[in-house]
Amino acid sequence: MEQLLGEMTLVEKLGQMTMLAASLVVTGPPGPDNPATKVRQGRVGGLLNTWGHDEIREAQRVALEETRLKIPLYFGVDVLHGHRTIYPIPLAEACAFDRDLWRRTARESADEATRDGIQMTFAPMLDVCRDPRWGRISECAGEDGYINAEYARAKVLGFQSDNDHPHRRMMGVAKHFVAYGAVMQGRDYAQVDVSERALAEIYLPPFKAAVEAGVGGIMPSFTDLAGVAMSAHRALLHDLLRVQWGFNGVIISDYNAIAELIHHGVAADLMDAAVLALRAGIDIDMMAGAYEEGLPLALERGLVHIDEIDSCVRRVLMMKEAMGLFEDPYRGLEKQSPGPDTLPHHRASARDAARRSLVLIKNDSDLLPLPRSTKRIAAIGPLADKQSELMGPWCMAGDEREAIGFLQGLREVFAQSDISHVQGAVVDGPSDAQMIAAAVTTTQASDVVILCLGEDRQHCGEAASRTKPEPPECQLELARAIVATGTPLVLVLATSRPWIIPQWLIDGSQSILLAMFGGTEAGRATADILIGDYNPSARLSISWPVNTGQIPVFYNMRNTGRPHDPNNGFSTNFLDAPINANWLFGDGLSYSRYELGDLRVDVATMDETSTIHLAIDVVNAGKQAGEATVFLFIHDPVAQVTRPLIEIKDFVKTMLNAGQSKTLRFTLNADQLRYPGLDLQPRLDDGRIDVIVGTSARAGDQKRVSIEMRRKMRV
Ligand code: GLC
Repeated sequence: MEQLLGEMTLVEKLGQMTMLAASLVVTGPPGPDNPATKVRQGRVGGLLNTWGHDEIREAQRVALEETRLKIPLYFGVDVLHGHRTIYPIPLAEACAFDRDLWRRTARESADEATRDGIQMTFAPMLDVCRDPRWGRISECAGEDGYINAEYARAKVLGFQSDNDHPHRRMMGVAKHFVAYGAVMQGRDYAQVDVSERALAEIYLPPFKAAVEAGVGGIMPSFTDLAGVAMSAHRALLHDLLRVQWGFNGVIISDYNAIAELIHHGVAADLMDAAVLALRAGIDIDMMAGAYEEGLPLALERGLVHIDEIDSCVRRVLMMKEAMGLFEDPYRGLEKQSPGPDTLPHHRASARDAARRSLVLIKNDSDLLPLPRSTKRIAAIGPLADKQSELMGPWCMAGDEREAIGFLQGLREVFAQSDISHVQGAVVDGPSDAQMIAAAVTTTQASDVVILCLGEDRQHCGEAASRTKPEPPECQLELARAIVATGTPLVLVLATSRPWIIPQWLIDGSQSILLAMFGGTEAGRATADILIGDYNPSARLSISWPVNTGQIPVFYNMRNTGRPHDPNNGFSTNFLDAPINANWLFGDGLSYSRYELGDLRVDVATMDETSTIHLAIDVVNAGKQAGEATVFLFIHDPVAQVTRPLIEIKDFVKTMLNAGQSKTLRFTLNADQLRYPGLDLQPRLDDGRIDVIVGTSARAGDQKRVSIEMRRKMRV
């Protein structure tokens, strides 16, 4: 490594610090036309947005045969929720509350992506978000920092550590460091202002978990944080990430982000921007050309030292070494591009993942599951027969022709039923009275109607903020007409984010499924739940607001000095809306009712060295086997700073046959009780802690005990 570094010219060194985009997909503003020319000149270390046998072989051949030093390229793609086989979007998969599932789909994604010549994924995305206006909320694991941290751990291990063969492992790049999910107004790229405490308690922990799991890369966000642009944030990227946390991987800028320091107003030109980013610790410049153009001048002027550049190049070369690229530059690449039909167990896995990510949020009079004998089913709506939408944003190599839409899923699973389909409306555009009339006629002639509404895939993901995260008017007009028929109505929502659903539509739907974007097998998975072949077990990872004015609304708010009291005009309140979300983090129904016994604890007093053990019986009081999702929360009633009314600390799923009871066990230790004190350092108080176990975050579904913390070392 040192010898190779010693042979490199400055141009070649800056080349290793440069990543350019090829053009299989476009994920940012246009850049150099043909990166191959720059590869040939040794001015590129890696490419993004390309995959597949021929593409990778040709790009790598140029690097190995036509450059002076023949240093292999690495290839990175946004494999967020699958490569060719597409799994539910992260926001939906988080609703499964299943670490093993999260890890499995990451492992399968790495298996497919590495066969297509990819060694790096710009994932997991860990930007905790409570704002459905932000299109990228679809990419994270929801509103809670702890859940995003558990998700981070599972994904990094799935990408990087699993898979029997090293060449089926893919380096993760945790993104976007940090608090990108708190953009003002939910407007993408906007400024971010969160408190130091929120940073310490909510936004940083998922990244710390990723680093502890050994993530190979970190990507800073486009945004600033309280006025300090993340691409130049030395305190967080160097002092915290590298020094305090001991992160020794690579830091890759976001797409053109270094150059955007000029727009942020902290760099006068590309040289300034390059110096700031280098000083902050960014090793790789994605698409800005800032390092290549700015650092030579900075060196000449003594603004940076060659040792700083060498440190970055060394990390990049070590990364390539760890990827096995020096040993075999074509490692893992296969002629046949893998997918759900060449790897059928991945298709089956995607169906299972989609089943377990879909949240049943309403089911009046047990309309669901539908009897197999249901004669006439109407599949209505702009999403009823759509495959592409169900793939969601960032489905790179996903082939929508391989996806199963709701209509096909219904027709396969309800094989004895007569299933008629009318689109009834476009996804977003003018209403059409004739389309609605046709939908009404079909609905009136049916025993039940499955109304499939949802988002246009182009309205989701990056640069897709919306001030109205709600069904377009054309879909609401269709829905009004369908509700008016009085036919039993199952509402299926295929969205990338929480939507504002009008009360008349909630009331007019006997059952509501929050299917979100379930991926390649979404249609079959949804039908599996509708017919009862799968007993829904998902619970919301994100709260769904009553209206946009409620945003942000989330389950674990702090108390106020004037807690909501309908009988007290001077208590926290809205005059024109409830203060609670429509549907809350942790909400979700099954076809079974899971009942909790008393919560038992082995000791009622603990200190900073002890671990307490909790046990609780859960019984499936329903008629169908199913997976119960059970959460462990705490509440700290008196602390040095105000604490959330409830905080999740663990979760578990358990399969129960009808009538079966099991004892679930949790542990709780002092670390799980610490919170950032007045000085923002982890703090533990003496005193009462309420421990809560529940099948949701709502008081009615919970059992509580109180324990006493008595520290041995009173500092
Ligand atoms: C995009 C996104 C980032 C992605 C990168 C490469 O702009 O912000 O999440 O990984 O560019 O596609």
